[in-house]
Amino acid sequence: MASFPELRMRRLRRTEGLRGLVRETAVGAGDFIYPLFVRHGKRVREEISTMPGCYHLSPDEAVREAEECLKLGIPGVLLFGLPDHKDGMGTEAYDAKGAVQEAVRLIKKHAPEAIAITDVCLCEYTDHGHCGVIVDGAVDNDRSLELIARTALSHAEAGADMVAPSDMMDGRVAAIRRALDGHGLARTPVMSYAAKYASAFFGPFRVAADSAPQFGDRRGYQMDPGNAREALREMALDVAEGADVLMVKPALAYLDILARARRRFDLPLAAYNVSGEYSMVKAAARAGWIDERRAVLETLTAIKRAGADIILTYHAKDAAKWLKE
Ligand code: PBG
Ligand code: ZN
Repeated sequence: MASFPELRMRRLRRTEGLRGLVRETAVGAGDFIYPLFVRHGKRVREEISTMPGCYHLSPDEAVREAEECLKLGIPGVLLFGLPDHKDGMGTEAYDAKGAVQEAVRLIKKHAPEAIAITDVCLCEYTDHGHCGVIVDGAVDNDRSLELIARTALSHAEAGADMVAPSDMMDGRVAAIRRALDGHGLARTPVMSYAAKYASAFFGPFRVAADSAPQFGDRRGYQMDPGNAREALREMALDVAEGADVLMVKPALAYLDILARARRRFDLPLAAYNVSGEYSMVKAAARAGWIDERRAVLETLTAIKRAGADIILTYHAKDAAKWLKE
C-alpha cells in the first residue's frame, strides 16, 4: 500500500482543472428552490428588516421573481403568505382569495414552467401564532388536521405544483393526501417537513412572516434538537403516510440527520437552509467579517454533500449568479 512520500494527496489539488476533475459534489442552480413571502396588493416590494435582500411581495411581484428564477436556472419557488386578517382558526390560510392562492394562480399563468410549491401551515394566519388550533390552551393535533388539509387543498386547487406542510402535526401527510385524492388532485405531490426541529434559527423568518407564537413556544410539536433517531421515525411515518419528498430543517445544524436520512430512504430529500442561517451570513458579510460568496457556496455544497437533492435557500438567486460566472 502506498504511503508518503510515494503517495501525495496534493497532486490532485495542484490546478483548478485537476480539482474540478475529481470534485465529488457540485451544487447547481437546478438544485435550488427560492422561498418568497407574498402579501395582498400590487407592486409591493418591501425589504424584510431581519432578512436583507428578501422582500414582502405582492402576487404580481412574485411572478417577476419566478420568472427571474427560471432565467437563472432555478426551477421553482416556495410561497409563504401574509394575510390581511388573522383569527383563531387561521381562516385566510384556506381562503381561495388568499395571497398565496393568488400568487400561485398568477405564477402558473405567466411563468407556467416555474414550480410553485406552497408552505402549508397556520402560524402566519392565526392570531395566536401557533401552527394549529388552540383548545384548552394547547395546540390540538386532530382539530388542526382538518384545517391543514383544507389549506393544502386550496393551494392545490389554485394550481400549486407541490404542497409542503410545515406544521408538525401527527398524521398531516395522510390527511392532506386524503383531501387531495378525494378532490381530483391525486397528481399533486406532498413535500413533508418531516424532521423539523424547534430551532432558534427560525428567528428572522418569524419577523418576516409575522408568525411568532403569542404565548409559549413550538416545542410541543417541533422536534427536540438532541434527537436523531426520532427524526428517522418521523420520516418513516411520513413515507408510510404517502409523502413524496422528505425534508430536514434547519439544514446546517442537522447535516448528520440529512446524511442518515440519505442512507435510510430512497425518496428525494430536501434540506431547508433557513432564515437564521441566511441572515447570519448576511450580517457577517456586511460587517466585512466573511466572504459572502465563498461562505454561501461552501454551505450549499455541504448541504448537497450531506445528501440533499433539493435545497430551499434564500441565497438561491445570488448563488445561481455566482455559479454562472
Ligand atoms: C411555518 C414555517 C416556519 C419556517 C418555515 N415554515 C417557521 C416556524 O416553524 O416557526 C421557517 C423558515 C425559515 O426560518 O427560513 N411553520
Ligand atoms: Zn407554522
